[in-house]
Amino acid sequence: MTAQEPIANPGSHRDARGRVVVISGAGGGIGRACALMYAAEGATVLVLDNAPETCAQVAKEVDEAGGRGLPCVADVSQEEAVRQISGRLRGEHGGADIVIHAAIQRMPGHLDSLPTGSFDRLLEVGLRGGFLLGREFGRDMVARGSGVLVFIGSTAAYSPYPYTGAYSACKAALVMLAKSFALEWASSGVRSVSVSPGMVRTPMTEELYSQPEVLAGRSAVAPLGRIASPDEIAQAVHFVASDAASYMTGSDLLVDGGFVMSKFMHVPGRG
Ligand SMILES: NC(=O)c1ccc[n+]([C@@H]2O[C@H](COP(=O)([O-])OP(=O)(O)OC[C@H]3O[C@@H](n4cnc5c(N)ncnc54)[C@H](O)[C@@H]3O)[C@@H](O)[C@H]2O)c1
Repeated sequence: MTAQEPIANPGSHRDARGRVVVISGAGGGIGRACALMYAAEGATVLVLDNAPETCAQVAKEVDEAGGRGLPCVADVSQEEAVRQISGRLRGEHGGADIVIHAAIQRMPGHLDSLPTGSFDRLLEVGLRGGFLLGREFGRDMVARGSGVLVFIGSTAAYSPYPYTGAYSACKAALVMLAKSFALEWASSGVRSVSVSPGMVRTPMTEELYSQPEVLAGRSAVAPLGRIASPDEIAQAVHFVASDAASYMTGSDLLVDGGFVMSKFMHVPGRG
């Protein structure tokens, strides 16, 4: 194909039939939205979550939506567990085509009083979990010469988030981890990217957004004037993992309603 030739089948990236997608934190808001999006295209989705009930529920929803749900209750920070899961998936389904790391265990608190154990746990799930998933499932991708890793970052990777500084540090590191995998594996045909959502209404944030004044106040500071739905993040994940994004690797896609770029909206005076 020359540079001028159009893409042969621009719509083909919408079809994930026959694809195997692994999603950590698939029982939560954004992970579940990704799972159902791929399910609707007929994909096999490994629903990885450490919460047994939501894990089983989402796997069932994947089946009902037209995919094949494989429930997998596991702690993504446990090396042996991730190794076993990737081995089983390799044996039964030939490995993963797409891996999405959305699991997180938020540990809010000011840094001056945050217990060391809380800091460690946040990084274990958010960062180490991403490393283990990327390494274990990515090795098969490298051997095969194709596959995409998607790490769910956050606008907190760009700006320190008051009262949750450890989370910001974790997300900044995760976005860099995506770039590091990208560089190491680019020559193997494996892509690694991150998607950084802004404010999204999910089980993790429901306590906040169920307060009308918080919902209104937060919506007002997003230039698009509202909080995102999990589906809007899943759409972005779907794009970066698809062949439509075949020349993207190491990139971080901000999906934040314009929030990160909006600093000057809050500065008095014109021009
Ligand atoms: N909601 C937002 O506003 C927002 C904004 C930016 C980024 N994010 C990121 O998006 C991702 C998903 O967030 P969400 O809002 O859907 O959260 P959520 O709390 O709804 O989902 C997180 C899921 O991870 C699972 N999980 C926790 N620890 C685990 C472990 N050790 N092993 C396996 N699974 C585990 C939980 O059971 C839960 O189902 C996170 O990485 C989060 O940081 C969310």
